[in-house]
Amino acid sequence: MRLDKFICKSTHYTLADALILIERGRVVVNEAVVLEVSHQVHKNSVVTLDGALLTTRPFRYFVLHKPMDMICSNVDEKYPSVLNLLDVDQVTELHIAGRLDADTTGLVLVTDDGHWSFNLTSPKNRCEKVYQVRLSRPISSDAAKRFEDGILLQGESSLTLPAKLHIVDPYTVLLTLTEGRFHQVKRMFFAIGNRVKSLHRQRIGGLELDVDSGHWRSLTQAEVAALSVHA
Ligand code: URA
Repeated sequence: MRLDKFICKSTHYTLADALILIERGRVVVNEAVVLEVSHQVHKNSVVTLDGALLTTRPFRYFVLHKPMDMICSNVDEKYPSVLNLLDVDQVTELHIAGRLDADTTGLVLVTDDGHWSFNLTSPKNRCEKVYQVRLSRPISSDAAKRFEDGILLQGESSLTLPAKLHIVDPYTVLLTLTEGRFHQVKRMFFAIGNRVKSLHRQRIGGLELDVDSGHWRSLTQAEVAALSVHA
């Protein structure tokens, strides 16, 4: 981790503050003053600020139920960011592991552990994401087979990974994916001549969404570990 980031993660200082502290020679790594913000700090590095030992805060992990018309971004744009829903300290350190579109609702994971989220969202780890999809036309009889075989999405050169389709009724299906390409669910249904009317993510790995829309909770250590099995 970069030294300036390490300071943010172990104090209440911002990145801009960290830059000043480092440039003023107030930060010592392994008994040597370091003036470079990009200096790499490792697990066993001993870092002090004005002589006081710094240790990073433990990582944080949250599950959040994204409502309609909020975005999975760190900053507000046309719609507000879902991070506004989290009334916790140091929100700017958090990021979203696996984004949803503004008009998609459901399960979103939020963390400051970049390694965990990278592994969780990597298609190599085949972590299941289950979406409830409402369609504008009845589901076609060959849809399950086409999704199982993989679809060539417009503008892409590789087939989608095998996906499972469970038909609830002609206009409602559950789709299980193990990857997360851009607008993947909507593009898969478009490719088979249908259209997604509404989309809701209800499960990631073994974690079912269990909080109300607009609400969140911390993950338990067991849930974090279970999701790390994919990592
Ligand atoms: N696929 C989509 O098309 N949109 C989402 O928000 C998530 C998956």
